[in-house]
Amino acid sequence: MNTDAILITGVRVVDPGTGRDEIGELYIADGMIAEVPRSLPRDVRVIEDGGLTAVPGLLDMHVHLREPGREDAETIQSGTAAAARGGFTRVMAMANTQPAVDTPARVEWILRRAAEMGAVEVLTAAAITRGRRGEELTDFAGLVKAGAAAFSDDGCTVADEEIMRAAMARAAGLGRAILDHAEDENLKGGGVMHAGAKARAAGLPGVGEEVETRIVARDIRLARETGCRLHIQHVSCGASIAMISAAQQEGLAVSAEVTPHHLALCDEDVDPQDASYKVNPPLRSAEDRATLREAVAGGVVAAFASDHAPHTAASKARGFLKAPAGICGLETAVGVTYTVMVRGGLMDLKSWIERWTLGPARILGLPAPTLEPGARADVTLLDLEHSWRVDSAEFVSRGRNTPFEGWDLFGRCVMTIAAGDIRYSGLRGVSER
Ligand code: DOR
Repeated sequence: MNTDAILITGVRVVDPGTGRDEIGELYIADGMIAEVPRSLPRDVRVIEDGGLTAVPGLLDMHVHLREPGREDAETIQSGTAAAARGGFTRVMAMANTQPAVDTPARVEWILRRAAEMGAVEVLTAAAITRGRRGEELTDFAGLVKAGAAAFSDDGCTVADEEIMRAAMARAAGLGRAILDHAEDENLKGGGVMHAGAKARAAGLPGVGEEVETRIVARDIRLARETGCRLHIQHVSCGASIAMISAAQQEGLAVSAEVTPHHLALCDEDVDPQDASYKVNPPLRSAEDRATLREAVAGGVVAAFASDHAPHTAASKARGFLKAPAGICGLETAVGVTYTVMVRGGLMDLKSWIERWTLGPARILGLPAPTLEPGARADVTLLDLEHSWRVDSAEFVSRGRNTPFEGWDLFGRCVMTIAAGDIRYSGLRGVSER
């Protein structure tokens, strides 16, 4: 634990919650952001760099840490180290571990393990149904008492409408969001990539957009009936965006996240020989991608989320039909979203930061991340000026499955500070006095 005071000076400080955007200083003492004292203590650590940008600690509301059960793919320790390296001070773990996080004791176990081993703070979702089998609801009240931050059967949709209605009614009563993996498994059949020309040419079974839109339509209807906060995970289709936007216009508490890979890639980019492009929901058409980008820039989509889904190299080597779906995203999420959305001229820096901070915090009912004195010192220090090349051999995640290998990106985390403690530092050539 590094309890020394830290002065970060000469950086651009951007705090969207307060509107602060200036070249200035940040002072951290006793784990909190504080006013810069008139005279600095002797053991203060000074980080000085004109080219860096300090923002509130980023929050990734959708990650798979794989522990318990698939420690060969990731652990709480390796996944949170990847989060810290990627710029995140908090992550929300999904419940599709083995066994699933479907009892209060398992929620407590995750949170205890994360407190012991985690490089950053871990929030956890609890499963909606026992074993994520879609048949029987979990003990929602007990799970919330144990510390579950939201409910999700992510990886699967709750197929039965009655069960989903009951889940939403319970979540509404407890003031927790349902995080909704919207894919109709029956309609999907054996589909592995977007149903388009590329899938046909490759002879791969397709996934039509109705696989997603049917569930989005159903669950918006259920949110209207139950008053539940409904958050659509990893939205992939333009038609889903239209429904989500209409629900928001109507005043429903409906929100959405988009992943870096759905913003950067489309089905035309998929190499059918390379299962690192295989993901659920699949990479959609170029038109869908354009609509997702607009929705993120315009605010219909309030959050980015990586859907960090590490898999072993052996499982991904089984080919597009048989390999598991998922992209290892924590260490490329900042670069991909910054490069596509901000360098690409689609959104400003402040809005980009919001999608990684205020947006997800609001959806989850968490206090707004800020750099105001008195706030917990969760700070991400970014280099937005220099490009860097993605090399999965450098990942600290156990996963290497990325379609972004070799990409040149702008936007890289150079330091992650959580509760005043430096959890990751990749600072090079920055003066530290
Ligand atoms: O591609 C995916 N992989 N999508 C999901 O929803 C689950 C995830 C996983 O757990 O591997």
